[in-house]
Amino acid sequence: MLEKFLKMKQNNEKIVMVTCYDATMAKIMSNSNVDMFLVGDSVGMTKLGYENTLSVTMDDMIHHTKATARGTNKDKVVVVADMPYKSYEDNPKLAAENAKKLIDAGADMVKLEGGLEIIDSIKAIINEGIEIVGHLGLMPQSIEKMGGYKVQCRDEQSQKKLLEDSLLLQKAGVSMIVFEGIPEAIAKTVTEKLDIPTIGIGAGRYCDGQVLVSDDLLGMFTDFTPKFVKKYANLAQVIQEATAQYSKEVKEGKFPQEVNTYK
Ligand code: KIV
Repeated sequence: MLEKFLKMKQNNEKIVMVTCYDATMAKIMSNSNVDMFLVGDSVGMTKLGYENTLSVTMDDMIHHTKATARGTNKDKVVVVADMPYKSYEDNPKLAAENAKKLIDAGADMVKLEGGLEIIDSIKAIINEGIEIVGHLGLMPQSIEKMGGYKVQCRDEQSQKKLLEDSLLLQKAGVSMIVFEGIPEAIAKTVTEKLDIPTIGIGAGRYCDGQVLVSDDLLGMFTDFTPKFVKKYANLAQVIQEATAQYSKEVKEGKFPQEVNTYK
C-alpha cells in the first residue's frame, strides 16, 4: 500500500479517499474511481445517531468494517478502518490487539488520531506489521480538549507541533497522514516537508489527496454543512421525495399495479 501511495505523491497524482460504512455503498463506490474507503468513526453520526464520535465502540467499527470489506472491490480500493475512542490511546498492547481485530474484519490499514501522545501505540501496531494512517489537526476524538469543532494550528506553537508530530509519525513508519481542519498554508508547508502523502479534509488544496464524508458529499447528512464540504448530490431530497411518492401511491391505491403482482 505504502509504495503505491508514495509513488502517487511523487508523481503529483491526487489520492482520493471517501468514507464508506456498508456493503451496498462499497459496491456502488468501488466503481467511482476512488483509491481508498475510510470506515470512519463518523459512522457514529452518519449512521448510528450518536451526537459525536466518542460513543463509537470497537464492536461498531468491526461490524461496519466487515460490511464495507464484503462489498469492496479490493482490486481497486484500499479499506482503512478508524480505531475508535479509547481503543488505543495509552495502552500499546490493547492498541495492537484492537488494530488486529480491524484487520481481521477486512481492513487493509487502520487510522489513529494523535502524534507524540500516542507514539507508543503507533509503534506497537506497526510492530505487528499493520499499516497506519495518522490523523492530525482537528481530531474529533479530542473535541472536549479542543473545545469543539474548531480550526486548529492557527498559531506558531501549534503549527510547530503539527510539523514535529508529522515528522515523528513518518519516522515511526506511518504510511500517510490525514490533516483535518487546518489552514491551507500550514497544510501545504508540512505536505512539502514530508515524503509520505497527506490527505486533507478542510485542509485546503495542497495536500496529496482529499477525503470527504460520503454522507456530506452525497447530501445525505442534513444536520449541518461545514464550509469545506462540497455537495455533489442532494440524496436527502431524492430519498424523501421518492418515499413520499411511494406513500401517496399506496394510500391512493395506485401501487401495486397488475405489473407488480404474481399470477
Ligand atoms: O471518521 C471520519 O470520517 C474521519 C474523516 C473526517 C477523516 O476521520
